[in-house]
Amino acid sequence: KYDDKVEKLLARMTVEEKLGQLQQLSWAFATGPGNPDNRKVEEEARAGRLGSALNVFGAKDSNTLQRIAVEESRLGIPLVFGLDIIHGCWTTFPIPLAQAAAFDPAVAERDGAVSAKEARSNGVHWTFSPMMDVTHEPRWGRIAESCGEDPYLTARFAAAKVRGYQGEDPEGPDGLAAKDRVAACAKHFVGYGGAEGGRDYNTVDVSESRLRNLYLPPFQAALKAGVATVMAAFNTVSGVPAHGNSHILTEILKEQWTFDGVVVSDWNGVQELVAHGFAADPADAAQLSLNAGLDLEMVSTTLADHGRQLLKEGRIPEERLDDAVTRVLRLKFALGLFDQPYVRESEAVDAPSKDARAAARATAARTMVLLKNDENTLPLDRSAGSIAVVGPFADSSDLLGTWSFPGAVEKFRSVKVLDAVREAAPDAKVTYARGVDPEGQDIAGIDEAVAAVRSAEVAVVVVGEPPAMSGEAAARSDIGLPGAQERLIAAVAGTGKPFVVVLVGGRPLTVGGWLKRAPAVLMAWHPGLEAGNAVADVLFGAVNPGGKLPVSFPRAVGQIPVHYNHESSGRPYAPDNKYTSKYLDLPHGPQFPFGHGLSYTTFALGQPALSTDRITADALRAGDTVEVAVTVKNTGRRKGDEVVQVYVHDLAASIAQPVRRLRGFQRVTLDPGKSRTVRFRLGAEDLGFWTNDPAGELRVEPGAVDVYAGSSSTAKARATLTIG
Ligand code: IFM
Repeated sequence: KYDDKVEKLLARMTVEEKLGQLQQLSWAFATGPGNPDNRKVEEEARAGRLGSALNVFGAKDSNTLQRIAVEESRLGIPLVFGLDIIHGCWTTFPIPLAQAAAFDPAVAERDGAVSAKEARSNGVHWTFSPMMDVTHEPRWGRIAESCGEDPYLTARFAAAKVRGYQGEDPEGPDGLAAKDRVAACAKHFVGYGGAEGGRDYNTVDVSESRLRNLYLPPFQAALKAGVATVMAAFNTVSGVPAHGNSHILTEILKEQWTFDGVVVSDWNGVQELVAHGFAADPADAAQLSLNAGLDLEMVSTTLADHGRQLLKEGRIPEERLDDAVTRVLRLKFALGLFDQPYVRESEAVDAPSKDARAAARATAARTMVLLKNDENTLPLDRSAGSIAVVGPFADSSDLLGTWSFPGAVEKFRSVKVLDAVREAAPDAKVTYARGVDPEGQDIAGIDEAVAAVRSAEVAVVVVGEPPAMSGEAAARSDIGLPGAQERLIAAVAGTGKPFVVVLVGGRPLTVGGWLKRAPAVLMAWHPGLEAGNAVADVLFGAVNPGGKLPVSFPRAVGQIPVHYNHESSGRPYAPDNKYTSKYLDLPHGPQFPFGHGLSYTTFALGQPALSTDRITADALRAGDTVEVAVTVKNTGRRKGDEVVQVYVHDLAASIAQPVRRLRGFQRVTLDPGKSRTVRFRLGAEDLGFWTNDPAGELRVEPGAVDVYAGSSSTAKARATLTIG
């Protein structure tokens, strides 16, 4: 669309100015090693040697820096400003892992739209989100930013979030150039969630078929939704670092998928090709990354420093340089920056609006997962005479979650659970004791907590991990409750009073040690700005929980990886046979499986009914689909939500298949006694799989496919489809 304009501009640019467009520097603060040097950023902008800056926020600051580029550089090319707006700007929504638990992509779209408006009015044009790294590693801190262990769920959320940020049609009037939209970034390309041992930045060795079936689908979905940019991953992909990997950046992304947007590096990722032992020196790193298909370098300056010489020596082709510059300029045109490089200070959003807060609260409540609820401990009775609220996160406003916008962390911290319980049950005597630290071994406060619980009718125990324990560079080797928190639960259990555990955290936690003693457990994740209110909404039944786990909860760290979509071994688990795949010292399978989540009501799901039990592979390839109909009924006494889930299992294929693959889900709300039939369609992508062919082959093979429907990944109801 903008080719003419780009071409004309390109024709006027010197090599130095072209290389400048491929440089992004950090401004106010660092989101990686090293501190930004604002003076250098301004000088480079003035000299036309800068295409983009990250971590600039606010109408005043962004306009000041933009003015230097637009009014003082030779060609006046505007800068594009990027920032990590991951789950909210001023209005912090629950962390992405929590959002995935809603099993409702509309929540991600809403977060994207609210975030885009708040960010764009403050001069941010581009967010480095959504993150769509599928992962089977709960030790990995960045699982908090992901949608968990399933590629289909992640793909649906990735597309929704892109639409939220960019609008339905990024090039239309409600698209990137609109005052309330930002460009999205699909990250991290690719395989980052497979980091060995869950240690951040670590090696990823992956077959082509696993790459295509597990890690790539969300990116493909984001591209279909029109995502403007893609960020390279820090890891190697089968020996070749992503930043220098032409198979993934060029062959797959730009050639097979015809992506015409910008590929940005991660922070210092090009320079790090040297530490990887892939590039001999920074010049080599610049050559390898540009030639592999990278377009814009974040923070390190290898291209700016060595590009001219590399060009002279023929080590980088001029066409590749021009192509990268074209992509960056096209993004700037699409964002409307040449027409409107500045934002109006008077229009800058500087606080969460009432509507945005309401959306954050509703979203947070929608993401909560009721893991256990013996004897209907929950919901609590608002008219209880006394409630003890204890634990290190009960009176905490540190529940925004990782990658919260620093301005929000300063000014708009989470509503506390304690305050919200007091507001929700105004007539109850609410007592509080912290009990233990969130991390340390100090148990001096346990007695006080026990006394509070003893003198109350019911207790709420708020435990978990703080946001600093998940996110980037926050891997844990032990994913149990930190510090002495288990001791607090044991002491509360010892009182014999009914109690509920509210778990906060950015990852699945190993809860096996204390689970038996807790009558009810609610997984609240890191719920964001409206944390306390959303927890109280669920505790007192204003909201009936309907979230489902987007990730399996392991019984113990030694069991990791444990995920529902594993392949079968030749000796699948059998309880009465020693020589099968299992651990001697643990019950088989996770503590809580993918898709699990209870409600205050009950549901009955019927058998999956197929529109046909036979279809040919040719028909599927030609676009035919099979309908799966599942009836769900609310058999309890309260209105509630159920997530109907459909899984497939190809029984015999030329590449061993996962024992189950999620291929459809729908969250429905039903009044007591009501039922609904939910319909899904399965096509070639649902019933076929990607092979090891590097050219990308989706294969649909003849044979039997079991189709399961139910309320979690352990669903038993099954129908069989034969592909002829
Ligand atoms: O966008 C992030 C990325 O996910 C991790 N490293 C820093 C980048 C920019 O802040």
